[in-house]
Order: sequence, then C-alpha cells, then structure tokens
Amino acid sequence: MWKGRFQTETSNLVQKYGESISYDWRLYAYDIEGSIAQAAALQEAGIITKPEERKIAKGLREIKTEIETGEFRFRTSLEDIHMNIERALTEKIGDAGAKLHTARSRNDQVALDTRLYCRAESTALFDRVTTMQNALLTLAVNHPEAVVPGYTHLQRGQPVLFAHHLLAYIEMLERDKQRIRDCYKRINVMPLGSGALAGSTIILNRKLVAEKLGFPAITQNSMDAVSDRDYIAELLFIISMIGIHLSRLSEDIILWASAEFGFIELSDAHTTGSSLMPQKKNPDVAELTRGKTGRLVGNLMSLLMTIKGLPMTYNRDLQEDKEPLFDSLDQIKLALEVMAEMMAVAKVREDKTLEATSDPFLLATDLADYLVLKKVPFRDAHEIIGKLTAFSLTEARGFGELTLDEYRQFSDVFENDVFKVLDIKTALRARKAVGAPSPVNVGRQISKWQKRLSAAAAL
Ligand code: ARG
Repeated sequence: MWKGRFQTETSNLVQKYGESISYDWRLYAYDIEGSIAQAAALQEAGIITKPEERKIAKGLREIKTEIETGEFRFRTSLEDIHMNIERALTEKIGDAGAKLHTARSRNDQVALDTRLYCRAESTALFDRVTTMQNALLTLAVNHPEAVVPGYTHLQRGQPVLFAHHLLAYIEMLERDKQRIRDCYKRINVMPLGSGALAGSTIILNRKLVAEKLGFPAITQNSMDAVSDRDYIAELLFIISMIGIHLSRLSEDIILWASAEFGFIELSDAHTTGSSLMPQKKNPDVAELTRGKTGRLVGNLMSLLMTIKGLPMTYNRDLQEDKEPLFDSLDQIKLALEVMAEMMAVAKVREDKTLEATSDPFLLATDLADYLVLKKVPFRDAHEIIGKLTAFSLTEARGFGELTLDEYRQFSDVFENDVFKVLDIKTALRARKAVGAPSPVNVGRQISKWQKRLSAAAAL
C-alpha cells in the first residue's frame, strides 16, 4: 500500500509482528458498512460518479458474503482488515476501488470500525445483563419465603429473605446497565473525516456519513478523534465491574453449594465431577466466572497502560486495543449466558436454609432492639445482650430455651413478651424500613423488577 516510497519488501518477521488481520477480521462487517457510507460521501463531493459508487457498494457486499461463506482469503501480508478488504475490492472492480480511500486514513477508519463494533456489542451486552437479572428474579419468585442468615465477615448476622439476597445482585446489575447506557453516548460519535490526524483538503460531508451510519454526533477534533480510545477503556471497566459482580455471586454460589452450607443444589448440567473422587459435584462454572474476572480486569489494565503516555496522535501501539476488547466482550457475554442458565434452574434447599436460620443468635440484635423500645439506651442494651449471649453459650441453651428469670438476671426490663421477639417471621416482618427485607418490601421489589424487566427496555 505504501510501495511508492519503499525499495525493500517488509521483512517476514515484521509482517508477523505487525499483522492484526488474525483478529481484526472480526471488524469486517463494520469496515464494509463504513466504506459504503464513505463512498456515498465521495459521490456527493463529486470525487466518484454514481455508477462508481454503486460498483463499490456492490463489490463490498460481495466481499461481505465471501467472508461469511468462508471463501475469502485473508492475507497476512496485507496486515489488517482495512487493507485486505480494500485490496480485494480493487482486484474485483478496478479503479473505482482505488478511489475509495480518498480523504480517509486507516486511522479514522479503524476508529470508526471500532466504534461501530462497540456500539453493536454494547447492545448485546446490555441484553445479556437483563437476561441474568431475569434468571435471578425467577429464582427469587420461586422461593419467596425462603429465609437465610445474612452474613457480615462471613459470620451469621441477621435473618433475611433469600429473595432479598438475590435482589441485591439485580441492583448491582442494574447499575451496570446504567453505566452501559452512559458509555454508549460517548461511543456513538462518528470519527470518519478526521483523516490521519488533520482531516483532509478534500471536503466530504461528515454529517451525511454520520446519518448513513446512524450516529447522532460527529467528533470535533481530528487529532483527538484518531487517538481517542477512552470509550474502549470505559467499556472494559464496565465489563470488569459486571465480572466483579458475577464473581461475588459466584463466591456465594460456591459457598452455598458446599456441604457446609448446602443452601443450593446446582443441576448436573452445570457442574462437573472429579476424575479421582467419585462423590464430587463441583461448581466449576462459578469458579471459572470468578477466575475469568481476573482476566477482564487484566484487559482493562492492558488498555490503560497502552494509552498511558502516548504522544499525539495515532501511534501503532493503539492496535493493541483490539484483543483485550474482543476477549473481554466474548468472555463476559458467555459468562452472563451460562450463569443465567445455571441460576434459573438451581434448586434452593429451603430445609437447609431454614435450619441455618434457626440459629438463635441471629436474633440477638432484635433482642437489643426490644430493650431499646423499652427505653434502654442502645449501648446498654448491646452490652446486656452480649452478656446474655455469653450465658446462653456456656449453658448451651439458645435464647428461646432460657427462662424469664434468667433473662431478668441481666435486666429487669425483660418481660414475658420477650419470647415473641424470638421468632424469625416476626423478626423479618419488623424489618420494614425502605430497603430492608420485610416480606412486604421484598414482595414489592419483586413486582417492581418483574414489571421493569419485562418492559424489556433495550439500550
Ligand atoms: N491495524 C491498525 C490498528 O488497528 C489500523 C490503523 C493503522 N494505521 C497506521 N497508521 N499504521 O490500529
């Protein structure tokens, strides 16, 4: 492509080192879409004729079909997807093909292709996050009354509805969707016309190109436009965050599926056995999701480090943006799909969750609150219940098995009604502040999410 200035062929090693066609072939549809819009602008500017424009568009569409049917021969010597398609077009239609690159550089071309790719992929990602939310919601709806201990420091704290625990993840994923929406605005800006770095002396109608490609805005600084990869970094951050949310869920699943917890049973279809230990049923899907999250964060770091300290404007370093981007999107989409499939059919062992929740100490805070309602300052109440807990532990009898007289050894405020506090259902019903897990609240949240998610708000 640059044969004019050079006398020696590019070395084989350099070709091998610098090629991106082995992965950026995936941009082919966007590259072709962009080139068809470019041809329209060239025609409008009088650089090519209408028949030439038609020839270009037809040729490009044929190339697209050839790529999709596997007939197309990608050439490493042609470096990247842009040059592979341009060469094939010129070989196919001659001169008109050689005019396509007028007033365009691969620098603004690759920026356009990548934005088109990110745009389409953001939509796909958004939908898969919704699918994941729906799977969690289904599980919540199927077990509306299941109670589990809520933990801090992985120590039993207070009782909650299992559905409340699942709804927490739906909230996290909703924030991820908001982030995708917000990032989309910055992806959705059209860079073509920025040229190599300083536009062109041949003036093309950038608005027309933007309209043809469905962009609501066009970039305003050619130097920024050819070197801007912020939107990729943002997307990789969002993907990392989704991964981190899924990895936290994975950790819960791994714990819940253990004999120690036993709260859920994953289907055979989503677990694996051990080649050595015949009894094993391993939550590999959740472990892989937890593991792959490291890779997603790594991809984000990789791009940030690539951009750091780059001088203006385009530098070849930027070619390193694509593999992390493709990899992160491939992995997160798969993770969301498989996790959704697994969660939707997981079985909740309500007998086990109830057994765990029968731990009387889960209601220690409720006992302290009981004293507070009888005007004992909270700090005093906390100490009284602390001592009561120690007593109950040495006696090896739960709060429900102590007598009123024993309670009164710690505070004479205790009366017979204290035993009413020691009921999980009462304890849950009492947690009715906004955001707390009373059954009424959780029921409302479930209906809210059912409506919101079925309205299928696409990006
Ligand atoms: N394959 C290149 C990339 O992905 C396309 C742009 C090349 N531009 C250049 N001036 N060498 O970044």
